[in-house]
Amino acid sequence: MAENYVSLTEDDKEKASKLPIMDGTMGPSVVDIRSLYAQTGYFTYDPGFTSTASCSSKITYIDGDNGILLYRGYPIEQLAEKCDFLEVCYLLLNGELPNGAQMKEFVTIISQHVMVHEQLTKFYSGFRRDAHPMAVLVGVVGALSAFYHDVTDVTRPEDRYIAAIRLIAKMPNIVAMCHKYSTGMPFIYPKRKLGYAENFMRMMMGDPYDDYIANPVLIRALDRILILHADHEQNASTSTVRLAGSSGANPYACVAAGIACLWGAAHGGANEAVLNMLEEIGDVTKIPEYVAKAKDKSDPFRLMGFGHRVYKNYDPRAKLMRQTCHEVLDELNLNNDPMFKLAMELERIALEDEYFVERKLYPNVDFYSGIVLRALGIPTEMFTAIFALSRSVGWIAQWDEMISDPELKIGRPRQLYRGVAKRDVQPISSR
Ligand code: SDX
Repeated sequence: MAENYVSLTEDDKEKASKLPIMDGTMGPSVVDIRSLYAQTGYFTYDPGFTSTASCSSKITYIDGDNGILLYRGYPIEQLAEKCDFLEVCYLLLNGELPNGAQMKEFVTIISQHVMVHEQLTKFYSGFRRDAHPMAVLVGVVGALSAFYHDVTDVTRPEDRYIAAIRLIAKMPNIVAMCHKYSTGMPFIYPKRKLGYAENFMRMMMGDPYDDYIANPVLIRALDRILILHADHEQNASTSTVRLAGSSGANPYACVAAGIACLWGAAHGGANEAVLNMLEEIGDVTKIPEYVAKAKDKSDPFRLMGFGHRVYKNYDPRAKLMRQTCHEVLDELNLNNDPMFKLAMELERIALEDEYFVERKLYPNVDFYSGIVLRALGIPTEMFTAIFALSRSVGWIAQWDEMISDPELKIGRPRQLYRGVAKRDVQPISSR
C-alpha cells in the first residue's frame, strides 16, 4: 500500500496535463507517458500491468466487460464457425482473410515446411521419457534457432515471413514428437495430403502399424480449439515474446521464451491444472469443500479455469469450448462423462456464489478445453503443449508487428527501488 500520496505541484500538474491522450479504434484511450519521467522525474508503478498498454497493436481486440474477442476485427464466434485454423493463421499474419487463391498458396507453402531437420529429432533423446512435454518443447523450439539462425535477418520482412511459416508448419510435428517420445513410440511423419489438424492428430495418435482413421467431428473440434487459442492481445506469454524480440533475438528463441511463460498454471498451464483439479474433486458432493478452499485467503488453492485479468464477463472462448465439449462427447457417446458433469455443476455453483459473482470470476478458455482434449484421447500433460501449438501463430504475428514497427525500442522497464541506500564496503575483519 502507498505510504503517502504525492500531489503534483502546480508546475508538475501543468507538465503532466500536457501528456497526450491517444485514441484507439476501439477500447480505452491511453495517456502517452513516454515523456513523464523527463518532464516530472516520476516513474509510473504498475507491476502486473493492470493499467498499462505496453504497445499499440492491430491484431486482437478484447472487451473484457462484454466478453468480446476479435481477431483483426472478426468475432471469434464467426471465425470458429466459418473458418479453419490455417485461414485464421493467414488472417493473424496478414490482416485479412485469404481468398481462394491466397489460401491455396498459403496451404502449399506451409506444406513445404512441415518436415523438421532430422538432426532436430535427436534433441528428444536427451530428455528422460517422463520429462514434462513443456520442458521438452521449450528446448526443441529454442533449438530451431540453431538451425535457422544464420538465415534469419529479422530486419527483412521476407525472413520474418518465412520464420512465421516455418513455425506454423513445424509446431504440429514438434509437439506430436513430444508425446511420441514420452510413450517410447516411434515418431510419425506428416502426410502432405492431410489437413493441418488431421495431420497433427495422426502424428499424435497414429502408429506405423495401422492406418490412422480420422473422425471428422473430432478433427473439426481440434481445429476449433486451435482457432480459440491462436491469439489473445498482450497476455503474459505474448508480452514475453515481444520483450525478448525487442532486443533483436532470434524469433524461435523468442517463441521458446513464450512457451516457458505459457507453462505457468496461472496462464496456459491452467488447462492441465483444471483437469487435475476436477480429478481431485472427484465427485459433485465435494464441490462445496473446494469452492470454500478457493475462497479461503489462507489457502493457496484457486479454482483453476476461473477468473481472468481482462474478462470480467464470460470468456467467449469458454462458451465455444463448452459447445465443442457437447459435440465431442455426443459423438463419442460420452455425454454422461462424469468429468463434464462435474465441471458443469462446479460452474453452476461457482456462478451462484457471491464471492465469484462479486469478483466477476467466470470460466475462462481453460475450464472446458481440458475435458475436450481428454475426450479426444490426448494425455493431460500434453494440454498446454497444444495451447502452445496454437498460440505460436499469435506469438509470431505479434513479434512481426513489433519488429516492423518504426517506433520499436528495446523493452527496458524501470523500478521502484526499495533496497538499502548507498553504503561503503567494510573489510571482512570488521563485518
Ligand atoms: C489464460 O491474459 C490472457 O489473455 C491469458 C489467456 C490467454 O488466452 O492468453 O486468456 C489464457 O491464462 C487464462 C487464465 C487461466 N488461469 C487460470 O484459470 C488460473 C486461475 N485463475 C487465477 O489464477 C486468476 O484469475 C488469473 C491469474 C487468471 C487472473 O488473476 P488477476 O487478474 O491477477 O486477478 P487477481 O489475482 O487480482 O484476483 C482478483 C480477486 C482476488 O481476490 P481478492 O484479493 O480481491 O479478495 O479474485 C480472486 C483473487 O483471490 N481470484 C480467485 C481466482 N481468480 C481470482 N479466487 C479463486 N479462484 C480463482 N480462480
